[in-house]
Amino acid sequence: MPVNIIDKLYREHANMRRILILVRLQLDLLERQGMPDFVLLANSLYYMRKFPSMVHHPKEDLIFGKLLAADSSVKQEVDRLRRQHEEIYALEDRLINLVLEIQAGKLELCSKLLELGKLYLKTQAEHVEAEERVLFPRAQRVLRQKDWKEVRDKSAGIEDPLFGNKVTERYRYLYDYLLHEAADQGLPLPGASQDPESSSAKISFSR
Ligand SMILES: [Fe+2]
Repeated sequence: MPVNIIDKLYREHANMRRILILVRLQLDLLERQGMPDFVLLANSLYYMRKFPSMVHHPKEDLIFGKLLAADSSVKQEVDRLRRQHEEIYALEDRLINLVLEIQAGKLELCSKLLELGKLYLKTQAEHVEAEERVLFPRAQRVLRQKDWKEVRDKSAGIEDPLFGNKVTERYRYLYDYLLHEAADQGLPLPGASQDPESSSAKISFSR
């Protein structure tokens, strides 16, 4: 049975939420004057910067483009969410730089990291919620079989570097953390619930 692309997007959101929880936990630690794991935080933010822009948003863009062509009433929301993708990338770039600078000794930037980190988590939560509440259900109602086939064909072979079948070396530390977390809390293992499409890796991630 062909994989439902909307189901795939929901699953990707679930994976992204898992990483965002990790970011929140590290920022909470920082706020309580504890010492967060800055390597884990940088890895998480870097994953969030790369994965959606290369794997997740291209699929959404294809769907939203088809949705717009069929139903112009969603234009405002589609435009808003597309703009928000760019705002999120910019926030992630700033957060990654802040973490790197703090790691290099500029501890005075911790309060800025906290402030922007909170804004980032709030923006992400609202963004994903709007997609799931408004645009995904609308696309499911409006798009036709041939639209979904086109979206599937164009997005085939794009794989998540962390939750897909091959873990890119850059994310090994983050992956190992998630494995331990899964073992401790009885959560599914990273990559355990992947669909058959994800076995065809064609994109590799490197900085
Ligand atoms: Fe999304």
